[in-house]
Amino acid sequence: MSSPPTATLIRNGRVITASDDYVADVLMKNGIIDTIGQNIVVGDDTAIIDAKGLYVLPGGVDTHVHLENVIGPTITCDTFASGTRAAAFGGTTTIVDFALQTETDSPLGAIARAQRSAQSQVAVDYSVHVIITRVDDQVLTDVRHAMRHEGVTSFKMFMAYPGVMMADDAAIFRMLRQVGADGGMVALHAENGTVIDLLIKEALEAGHTSPRYHALTRPAILEGEATHRGIRLAELAEAPIYFVHVSSNQALKHIVAARAEGISVFAETCPHYLLFDDSVYNTDYFEIAKYVMTPPLRKEDDQKHLWRALRYDDLQVIATDHCPFCMKEGHLGYRLQKMRGKDDFSLIPNGAPGIETRLVSLFDIGVMQGKLSLNRFVQLTATTPAKLFGLFPKKGTIAVGSDADVVLFDPAATQTIYAKDLQGNCDYTLLEGRTLRGKVEKVFLRGNLIVDGKQWLGREGMGQFVPRGQVRAF
Ligand code: URP
Ligand code: ZN
Ligand code: ZN
Repeated sequence: MSSPPTATLIRNGRVITASDDYVADVLMKNGIIDTIGQNIVVGDDTAIIDAKGLYVLPGGVDTHVHLENVIGPTITCDTFASGTRAAAFGGTTTIVDFALQTETDSPLGAIARAQRSAQSQVAVDYSVHVIITRVDDQVLTDVRHAMRHEGVTSFKMFMAYPGVMMADDAAIFRMLRQVGADGGMVALHAENGTVIDLLIKEALEAGHTSPRYHALTRPAILEGEATHRGIRLAELAEAPIYFVHVSSNQALKHIVAARAEGISVFAETCPHYLLFDDSVYNTDYFEIAKYVMTPPLRKEDDQKHLWRALRYDDLQVIATDHCPFCMKEGHLGYRLQKMRGKDDFSLIPNGAPGIETRLVSLFDIGVMQGKLSLNRFVQLTATTPAKLFGLFPKKGTIAVGSDADVVLFDPAATQTIYAKDLQGNCDYTLLEGRTLRGKVEKVFLRGNLIVDGKQWLGREGMGQFVPRGQVRAF
């Protein structure tokens, strides 16, 4: 009996990277891409997959996901196991989650805690950004240690959620100055939290309790104001800055202007801001709680600006902000998730799922509708997130020596999305019943076939923590 193959050859696929597009053979060996060429000759120890007609894409890199994240009084409903399995089925092989610095522990404690929960469960490779809620000399020392010795080189800070996560401007400035000088990145949630809290209080006092007031109390101008403030702090600190979940032209116009001035400003948007607009909020049915995420959905006009920015590189990343909470009370045992806010919109946990549908939804609305080239699609969903967060060239491309994280994608297939068919724990998807062009057929993580059509071949715990390097901004 012959021994099982130790390498895999992907024959005749169309290799798409951020810069190239050609038909070739790709040989994966020992977890990395060993050879790319024509008519590669292999022995019996190599499995051969015919990829004619399929795209060979680098595994997706999703740098904004919340798995098992404690957010206020509740927790996101995807575990590291369910969330990373969902990521894999969606063609994402590396995620960057969040490790929350609590009142009492240090950033280093937060990293260790996240790793303890994640390591036995993750089925794709992972890292974490540390959420910094408090800054003092010791925290800054620990941040430097995390960057130098733990391979954690990015940190998220909030200008929203006063009293919970919000950091003041001086704290943000101190972090920007040090992290920037050390070659890392501060990622900012830009919304003016104190004014939003006032608007929420006034709405509730006026008896406005339905979920539509979530959007009305978080106007785009307050995203724009905070974005402008963040940019000025980064400019003063001479540090790069990254804006998460940019939703509006109010924010974008400051980003565009700053980049034109030569300031190192980078930003992501998320599929939901491209797929939906704020017309979904025009009802008092609680059902719309599924669209309660932060920032909220914006106007059609904002979407036009987001697409323009994606094309012209004023937005460099599309990440999911996968932050799932169940709608149905008690689904999989999760109590009081979205229903927490049945009588008070401000108590609805903010966030929506999306980790499994990112690539296919963007392929459909971006590539197939002629808004993004294939190269740009790969750049936005894999290569640039890997570069900005210190994962490149190990992750984010198809090149000799890179990890053999590869997606075989069928551009000719179609699929209709239903929550019941998805791998994640969330009981809904924003794409319910929507037919999308394109399909993830096979996914390899470091050369291991983990998704084969509908079949799950991955394993909890096979994902690895990836120590990250410095930001590659240019
Ligand atoms: O609604 C959202 N985005 N929830 C997750 C937390 C955050 O701000 O990213
Ligand atoms: Zn945020
Ligand atoms: Zn988020």
